[in-house]
Amino acid sequence: MPQAHLVKFLKRIQMPFLYVANWKMNMSFLQAMSFAKNNYTQLLQLSENASIVLCPSYITIHSLATIFNNTSVAIGAQNCSQYPKGAYTGEVSALDLKEAGVSYCIIGHQERRLLFGETNEEIAKKMEQLVGVGIQPIICVGEPADTQQEDIIPFIITQLRSIIPVAAHHQIANLIIAYEPGSAIGSGQTPANNSIEKVFEHIQHIFLAIPSVTLTLLYGGSVNAAHASHLKKIHHLGGFLIGNASTNFQSFEKIVSLE
Ligand code: PGA
Repeated sequence: MPQAHLVKFLKRIQMPFLYVANWKMNMSFLQAMSFAKNNYTQLLQLSENASIVLCPSYITIHSLATIFNNTSVAIGAQNCSQYPKGAYTGEVSALDLKEAGVSYCIIGHQERRLLFGETNEEIAKKMEQLVGVGIQPIICVGEPADTQQEDIIPFIITQLRSIIPVAAHHQIANLIIAYEPGSAIGSGQTPANNSIEKVFEHIQHIFLAIPSVTLTLLYGGSVNAAHASHLKKIHHLGGFLIGNASTNFQSFEKIVSLE
């Protein structure tokens, strides 16, 4: 194995599995605070062998970051502004997130793309902002539910095209990409492992163009306690992006603990 590949390989196997809890708009401030306080010790235990990232609403970020300060439970945001600062009423900047205690930020979630019209170019700008302040972006890709089988890979390649120059320009070492098929988000259905693997292979292929990058590939879409063991067998899987099941501590714990 050539030296660069060996280094990448060793880095990859040392990285703990990443569990990103995407609470969307499903947890109010008080609900999120109860979740954190009631399960504080167990969350810390889970984070001994896994990377745990909780992504509450903007409002809750700072309080949760204070609770988990100096622990290995990380706090993530669900979105950020594409602009650094200025007259953008209602937006939240990457710097603001950083100061509030955020270390990860989900960008390009399918709900943002479909319901709020976010474009690939805007997502690339958000990535620029996050990288600029030292927040790790979690870039979501995935085809809408009604996409024909043969159109899935070209769709995802198009989604990734805008972020490649950003990754190359900043010589990003660790890139986290979450593949979430539209048909799986919130539906209770997951695709066959081999179709997820096929998408992962194409994503890996695209990033061969940037040798500095080590990819962490996440799967998201109806990850729950019933599906998790099977999904963990996906080749090159680096973690999960979990929606509904992450709002209930018992299911979240099971997903993390299952072999
Ligand atoms: P789900 O959501 O786990 O509820 O399907 C995943 C996501 O949208 O990130």
